[in-house]
Amino acid sequence: MGCGLPVQDAAEIALCAAELASNAVRHGKRGVLDVFVLHEDKAGIELRCADEGPGFIDVNAALTDGWSRGRPLKPEDSTRDGLGTGLGAIRRLMDELEVDSTTTGSVVTARRWARPRRS
Ligand SMILES: Nc1ncnc2c1ncn2[C@@H]1O[C@H](COP(=O)(O)OP(=O)(O)OP(=O)(O)O)[C@@H](O)[C@H]1O
Ligand SMILES: [Mg+2]
Repeated sequence: MGCGLPVQDAAEIALCAAELASNAVRHGKRGVLDVFVLHEDKAGIELRCADEGPGFIDVNAALTDGWSRGRPLKPEDSTRDGLGTGLGAIRRLMDELEVDSTTTGSVVTARRWARPRRS
């Protein structure tokens, strides 16, 4: 990837990018996903997905597994519309996750840093 991250990490980051884009399309009006290579005191990747609203109903609840479209999923719910696990997976796979949401748009930013290589 040219930023010091191994291929396995790249695959996991790609999954997170796909999930962010999917959320922007399914829960927002439309959006743009930007990918930045970070070269700060350490190397990393930043995913930033910005959409045009309508915004999160409850950001904290949305980050927990099994919460979808403003409510906890019940066993009888169809799984066709999702399991409410996308943001939880991103939180587990990435090192940082921030949600800045208003009714006119949401920006979800996730970063993953290169880990020290084992010798
Ligand atoms: N860009 C967004 N704008 C508004 N609400 C969002 C956005 N992204 C996520 N959400 C809200 O957060 C909830 C949880 O998102 P999450 O990705 O975890 O689950 P899901 O998209 O419902 O299902 P899954 O990702 O498992 O298919 C969504 O159901 C939606 O209510
Ligand atoms: Mg999702």
